[in-house]
Amino acid sequence: EQVPLEMHKVRIVQKLNLPPIERRLAALDEAGNNTFLLKNADIYLDMLTDSGVNAMSDKQLAAMMESDDSYAGSATFTKLETKIRDIFGMDYFLPVHQGRAAENVLARVFCRPGSVVPMNYHFTTTKAHITVNGGAVEELIIDAGLEVTSDLPFKGDMDIAKLEASITRHGAANIAFVRVETGTNLIGGQPHSLENLRQVSKVCKQHGVLLVLDASLLADNLYFIKTREQACKGMSVREITRAIADLCDIVYFSARKLGCARGGGICTRSRDLYMKMRELVTLFEGFLTYGGMSVREIEAIAVGLEETMDEDMISQGPQFIKFMVDELNRKGVPVITPPGGLGCHLDALRFIPHVPQTQYPAGALASALFLVSGVRGMERGSVSEQRDDQGNEVYSNMELLRLAVPRRVFTLSQLKYAVDRIVWLHENRDLIGGLRFVEEPKMLRFFFGKLVAT
Ligand code: F0G
Repeated sequence: EQVPLEMHKVRIVQKLNLPPIERRLAALDEAGNNTFLLKNADIYLDMLTDSGVNAMSDKQLAAMMESDDSYAGSATFTKLETKIRDIFGMDYFLPVHQGRAAENVLARVFCRPGSVVPMNYHFTTTKAHITVNGGAVEELIIDAGLEVTSDLPFKGDMDIAKLEASITRHGAANIAFVRVETGTNLIGGQPHSLENLRQVSKVCKQHGVLLVLDASLLADNLYFIKTREQACKGMSVREITRAIADLCDIVYFSARKLGCARGGGICTRSRDLYMKMRELVTLFEGFLTYGGMSVREIEAIAVGLEETMDEDMISQGPQFIKFMVDELNRKGVPVITPPGGLGCHLDALRFIPHVPQTQYPAGALASALFLVSGVRGMERGSVSEQRDDQGNEVYSNMELLRLAVPRRVFTLSQLKYAVDRIVWLHENRDLIGGLRFVEEPKMLRFFFGKLVAT
């Protein structure tokens, strides 16, 4: 048996609770069956997200102690700017408070009513920002990307023929930009290949369309390119990163995922693009040398980006996820394959086929798993979609319960506990019923909507 090896040791710990099932049931009631509304005190393993909860390294903590605080022109900001230049080869960097703030800036600058943003797959906050500015999202993932089980190494690839057809259909002038999500979030953390990005970039250049990379999940995607793409075997992680950035006009990221801290940023080589976006950073985020982040966070991101160039560091998450996916798969539990980044994804449509999509199977599964284990996952299915302009439900392509594996946080025995409880729940899946909304917010409803059993 191949056991993933941690190339780090634990030096600071936090005590966990495992409240009894009666308390977990009451907590679910209070939270309206929405795991976003649970309190950490009621949770044993928090597998909601990998955002802002990855472990920090000793080097990051040390750097945070020597940060240079000032409203304008801090040496700390220069350090991050220099690191971005070094890693992405991009001279212009705009700091923002987190990933969706970058999306706000991009959507406001490039989208107007009628614009289209073709992408491999949408993310919730990305789509919300594009649509709120009058634009529309077009998903051009390869067909195989939506097959829940597969052994295809790069299910996050964009379909190049679909991209060409989309640009021709809408006209290049109506394309705000093409967006590639490196490590697609909502379809199981599935990566794209470097070769696919090359082809996307070529099409964009031919038509004079901007290529924007959402690099929030770059760490995982780098690992998959390094280990799954034959042509990249001889490249270092740093070389792969640079090759990716060289193909894009803009790279933006949530540093809550990339760099292990808080914050985010927008990077570009073009002074012209930088000037178009700059004012919005000072309007919404803060001055250009902090953008809503504290200097301590900025220091941690600079170190975290450098650590992302270390294969030992970026392999931990994907290897732990693979362990969980393989164990569950072996025991007949429906999971997304091949294993991706971010987390292990349970396929709710096959897990509880008796719960129809109108009753939010992924949400129901999230509730049930928390009840039987104290493990908090996140619904990544129709609850996470937004209604269309006419107010009709938009059912998601996949109904997933995402069990995020934050980087360097959990031990293997904790993952084994989660696997054990999931297997039990699968054997007793007939106990699980559907859900309906009792409070449904208009925008990003999954964050604070409330549901009850049907
Ligand atoms: N893009 C991707 C691919 C993301 O995964 C996220 C966040 C964002 C943008 C937005 O960044 O949260 O810093 O504003 N994903 C988190 C998650 C929330 O749990 O999947 P943010």
